[in-house]
Amino acid sequence: MPIKFPFTKSKSKPEPQTPGLDYKQLPRHVAIIMDGNGRWAKNKGLPRIAGHKEGMNVVKKVVRHASNLGIDVLTLYAFSTENWKRPKTEVEFLMKLPMEFLNTYLPELIEKNVRVETIGDFERLPEHTKTAVQEAKDRTKNNTGLILNFALNYGSRYEMVEAVKVVADEVKQGNLDVDEIDEGCISRHLYTADLKEPDLLIRTSGEQRLSNFLLWQLAYSEFWFTDVYWPDFNEAYFEKALYDYQNRKRRYGGV
Ligand code: IPE
Ligand code: IPE
Ligand code: MG
Repeated sequence: MPIKFPFTKSKSKPEPQTPGLDYKQLPRHVAIIMDGNGRWAKNKGLPRIAGHKEGMNVVKKVVRHASNLGIDVLTLYAFSTENWKRPKTEVEFLMKLPMEFLNTYLPELIEKNVRVETIGDFERLPEHTKTAVQEAKDRTKNNTGLILNFALNYGSRYEMVEAVKVVADEVKQGNLDVDEIDEGCISRHLYTADLKEPDLLIRTSGEQRLSNFLLWQLAYSEFWFTDVYWPDFNEAYFEKALYDYQNRKRRYGGV
């Protein structure tokens, strides 16, 4: 049975319905560490890249679902600053995926009013990756629905180092007083300056660590882990995470 929301396009295929999930009280920003592609492939006797390819199909499913549910921001960790250490062929494959993803999926993103954004060191990506992603950003920049935010060549420590450099330079130039440096000032100098902080972080594959993802922004987010490898993740798991999130008590240090 399709979920009946004012914002759900009726032509989308039937959606999972999690008993007890309150579709009116969803987290506004969900961040996901999409992990386990390689192990998924290995278990099937396939090369690691087969896992990445299958993982891309899961990205489509989850984006579609997040958009149908009316979530504001979905941040997906697609490539870390540490992932350059991987074999050249794997890195090359990963760098072609955004193009492949957008070739087949950009029209639907546009149709769904999704806005594509990125965080990370964009300039150091290969030209073909930048071109494809930049086109998607440009063509969706006026959209007002889900913000689909890809963390591409993203590393939280690098992000903070760069922010500190800019802040230090502003002080040096006399445009900023040391006393004006506060949490808001730091936040405004991160890649995520224009985004609200994630309410919920999901990590697949059984690992329970941040791997240099959004260290500052996740300070008070709820964490949700599953042993499922990313290529086996789906709308139902996503809703389970949302449901569990709704049953957490966020206290922010209070009582
Ligand atoms: C996540 O899957 C995808 C990226 C990091 C790009 P992995 O490739 O890390 O898969 P595992 O963790 O080795 O199984
Ligand atoms: C984190 O996964 C990065 C992405 C999902 C893009 P990794 O597989 O790179 O993290 P580690 O090495 O297990 O910490
Ligand atoms: Mg991994």
